[in-house]
Amino acid sequence: MIETKSTIRAVAWHDGPRGPVVRLLDQRKLPLQTVWLDCERPDDVADAIRTLAVRGAPAIGIAAAYGLAQSMVQACSSELADGAFDALVAEVARRFAATRPTAVNLFWALERMVARAAMTRGQPVAERARDLVAEAIAIHDEDIASCLAMGAHGAPLMPRQGGVLTHCNTGGLATGGHGTALGVLRSALALGHELHVYVDETRPLLQGARLTAWECAQDGLPATLITDNMAAHLMKLGRVQAAIVGADRIAVQGDTANKIGTYGVAILCKYHGIPFYVAAPTSTVDLRCPDGDHIPIEERAPAEVTHLGGQRIAAEGTGVFNPAFDVVPAALIAGIITEEGVARAPFTPDLTAMVARAQERAKRVRAPGLPA
Ligand code: MRU
Repeated sequence: MIETKSTIRAVAWHDGPRGPVVRLLDQRKLPLQTVWLDCERPDDVADAIRTLAVRGAPAIGIAAAYGLAQSMVQACSSELADGAFDALVAEVARRFAATRPTAVNLFWALERMVARAAMTRGQPVAERARDLVAEAIAIHDEDIASCLAMGAHGAPLMPRQGGVLTHCNTGGLATGGHGTALGVLRSALALGHELHVYVDETRPLLQGARLTAWECAQDGLPATLITDNMAAHLMKLGRVQAAIVGADRIAVQGDTANKIGTYGVAILCKYHGIPFYVAAPTSTVDLRCPDGDHIPIEERAPAEVTHLGGQRIAAEGTGVFNPAFDVVPAALIAGIITEEGVARAPFTPDLTAMVARAQERAKRVRAPGLPA
C-alpha cells in the first residue's frame, strides 16, 4: 500500500460525557473558519447532511451510519423491547434516507446498518446498540481503506508529468479520509509523479474553490484554481493531460452521476483527446440502477444560484434551475477506479464482479451477530 499524507478527517464518533456525539467539520464555513459541529441528536446529523455541513457521497453515508447508531444508543438508555428496537432502526433509517437523493452511499450505508441490526436480534438491546456503533466505525474504517486502495490502483493511470483537472471536492472532506479522485492524485504524487492539480471552482456552491483548493493547500499538493468556464481553454493550451472526478452514483453499465458540471468536463476531454477517469468505492455502484436516466438528480434551492456568499447577484424574481448533479455517459469514461481495481468498458461485468468481491470481503471483516 502506498503511504500518503492526508491530514483531513471531517467526520468522527465521540463518546462524550453526556452521551455519544457525531462530530463534523462544518464544510459550509471552510475555508474561512474551522468550526466543529458536535451533533448530540440524530436530527442534528440529518440537518447537517441536508444543509451540506457534511457532504460528499462516502462522507454522507458514514455520517448517517453514525447518526443511526447514536439514535439507538440514546434510545437504549430507556426501556426498549427487541421489536421496538427494530422498528426504531427502520424509522431512523427512513429519516436519514430523506436527506439527499442522489448519492447512493447514503442508502448503501443505511441498508447495511439495518441488515446488521437484524443479525443481532434476541441479544440485549444495549449490546445491539453498541454493535451498531461498531458497524458505523467499520463503515468509516473501510472507506479509508477503500480510498487508499483506489489510490494504489489509480496512481499508475495518472500522467508521469503534467496537469490533471478535477471537479468538486473528493478529498478527505468528502470521504472517511484520503479521498477518491483527490486520493488518487495524492497517491500519484507520493509515487513521484510530477503532477499539477487544476481545481474547477464548481459553481454554485464552490466545493472546488472552498474545499479542494483548501485541502491541497493543507496537504501541500501543487494546485491551481480555475473558474469552471476556463477548463476548455486550459485544455486547448495543452496544460491538462487527464481529468479525474468522484461519483455520487454509478449505474451498472457505467453511467456516472457527479457534481453538476462534470458532464461538461467529460465532453471537453473527449474533444481534446484527454482521458477522463472516475474514482469511487464500490459502495457508489448501484447495481439496481440500469443506466443514468434512472439516477435521481437532486434539485436545490434557487438561492444557491442567485446568491454568492450570502450576497444577491441576480435580480429579484429571476427564474432558476439548480440541479446539483449531472450524468456522464459511460462512453466518455476511460476507466472507473474502485478499491477492487479499474473497471473498463463495457463496464457491467467488471462493476458487477467488483461489487461481489467487496461484499464478500465485508462479510469476512465482522462476524454476524457477534458484537465486537
Ligand atoms: O453536493 P455534494 O458536495 O455532496 O457533491 C459531492 C460530489 O459531487 C462529489 O464529487 C462526490 O460525492 C464524490 S466525493 C468522494
